[in-house]
Amino acid sequence: DKGGWSSFMAKEINEQPEAVANTVRGRIEGDHVVIPELEALGDDVLRGIDRIIIIACGTASYAGQVGAYAIEQWARIPVEVQLSHEFRYRDPVLSDRTMVISVSQSGETMDTLMAVKYAIERGVKTVSVCNTQSATIPRESDAAVYTHAGPEVAVASTKAFIAQITALYLIGLHLGRVRETLAPEDSAAAVAQFETLPEKVREAVETHDQIAQLAHWMADTRSVLFLGRHVGYPIALEGALKLKEIAYIHAEGFAAGELKHGPIALIDHGQPVFVLVPSPRTAPLMHSKIVSNIQEIRARGARVIAVVEKGDTSVLPYADDVIRLPLADALFEPLLQVVPLQWFALELSTAKGLDVDQPRNLAKSVTVE
Ligand code: M6R
Repeated sequence: DKGGWSSFMAKEINEQPEAVANTVRGRIEGDHVVIPELEALGDDVLRGIDRIIIIACGTASYAGQVGAYAIEQWARIPVEVQLSHEFRYRDPVLSDRTMVISVSQSGETMDTLMAVKYAIERGVKTVSVCNTQSATIPRESDAAVYTHAGPEVAVASTKAFIAQITALYLIGLHLGRVRETLAPEDSAAAVAQFETLPEKVREAVETHDQIAQLAHWMADTRSVLFLGRHVGYPIALEGALKLKEIAYIHAEGFAAGELKHGPIALIDHGQPVFVLVPSPRTAPLMHSKIVSNIQEIRARGARVIAVVEKGDTSVLPYADDVIRLPLADALFEPLLQVVPLQWFALELSTAKGLDVDQPRNLAKSVTVE
């Protein structure tokens, strides 16, 4: 039941505040994160981990990339993200101190399941971040940290993505506490961010009307680029994937720093570019670098759509459109920035008269390798 929405995807974008709140619920004690499913693995095991590999496909892999920054920062463990279908073929270096965290909405993605089985055979501890209770991947894994986004019907993943980032952050905070790498004040600050996040995600959802206007003007667009830095980079990749999937538009995401190493040659008059601008308060250095990137592409004729935090006026002289989001700490900005990009894909798909929920050639759950 679409509950009055025009598509399941629209309904699910709108459900994102609850997806975050429900994934956090029951996992906070005072100023700390405590995940019972990880506790069950034993603190000694968690203290002994010297490397984490996140395995996932598609949108789940982008959630993994965002999560990797946070886990490294809080738990001081090197984290790498590998696509599930690439994992086995590289004969990965694994030991009994490696932890593999799989991320999967369905818990049935065959590529990810095979990678998890491979890790288990090699004696590695496996943790599953999954949205579907009792799916195959969490059942096979040593621990399951469920996302509580509720059933996701649209092929394009939205609320599951936000819930996956949330769960990976909680895992990072849990590991940081157990390993004593996380300062109590940083733990308290992250917990405080989680408390206000659902309300901020709601505000991000309310960018819909502005984005619908934008998509309306851009209905004939044939190519869109997305730029981000740090945690904004995987969000750029996710914004591009959404557009490919449901609007069948060529789109690419880049790390903003890569621009001058090649992609800037693509910038031509009128080329639309979404730029995810980090907060000038919490990430001043990255912010100033992104503002220079905006100036560079604008000088070459790009049509700049800047996604900024409210009150950041630095981009106004160079942006054609500005999408404003509530203030959040740097690591929490991706959970807000992705929302207007989801709306943009949905609205362009709708403007082209396509089936938003059932894009061509795609299945909700990819159960073949
Ligand atoms: O069920 P999973 O999270 O394992 O699915 C992984 C990908 O197939 C999935 O995220 C896909 O990229 C989505 N259709 C993206 O919107």
